[in-house]
Amino acid sequence: MSSPPPTSSSGNPLRFLVTAGPTWEPVDEVRFLGNRSSGRLGAAIAEALAARGHRITLLRGPATTDPAPSPHQTDLRFQTAAELEELLARHWPAHDVLIMAAAVADFRPIRQAGSPRKIRRRDGPPSIELEPVPDLLAGLASIDHPGTRIGFALEPAEDLEAAALRKLAAKTLHAIVANPLETMEADGIDGTLLHADGTSTRPGPEPVTKSAFAGWLADEVIDLHRRRITASGPPTA
Ligand code: CTP
Repeated sequence: MSSPPPTSSSGNPLRFLVTAGPTWEPVDEVRFLGNRSSGRLGAAIAEALAARGHRITLLRGPATTDPAPSPHQTDLRFQTAAELEELLARHWPAHDVLIMAAAVADFRPIRQAGSPRKIRRRDGPPSIELEPVPDLLAGLASIDHPGTRIGFALEPAEDLEAAALRKLAAKTLHAIVANPLETMEADGIDGTLLHADGTSTRPGPEPVTKSAFAGWLADEVIDLHRRRITASGPPTA
């Protein structure tokens, strides 16, 4: 039996750009610096949006689980922050909402022409020099675009809200999902959505499954975007 066709929650389908998973920054041609992001939450958000009849471009990092195929979803892959930066620059202009769940590196190894293709044990412990990776989300704030930008902050529970609010302001976001660090490899999630207007919402008092959180977040973000667009009025010529 086939599943029922997706229905749009209200109005026309929106175009969502969702990022998920880690970046891998090469140390040599064999090794990389990465992180433990699984990409599961980003994929669940994309799935929830598709089930609501919206269009999704999913930008997905390495070693993430393949999402369920959907005619509403385009799945594009990246490995490094530079590749993700290029995909964001290319695709953000044609989307309404960005949900930036990817765990992007803050630093990457400096590699130049003379760097070895493979670091050898016989040469002893290497020192790996790092350079900063640009803040991709903050960079998108300076692009003239009416869309809604949602970030994520994974923080130690004791500093969760203050740190997430700092990032909300520093990256000029419309909202940020504040998640305690403990969420990283757990099945449940205890996230809160902090809005730029100072309000906050959460799915309930207890942690919920990632898929329940994704459905709740999809509805919140659709609602936030529609309210923003309605409040700003029709575009002027
Ligand atoms: N982010 C980004 N580009 C980076 C690093 C992070 O776009 N180079 C995005 C993430 O996708 C996430 C948000 O910024 O949506 C917060 O990421 P996080 O790593 O928590 O914040 P940082 O600004 O990197 O701060 P810090 O690592 O010092 O906590």
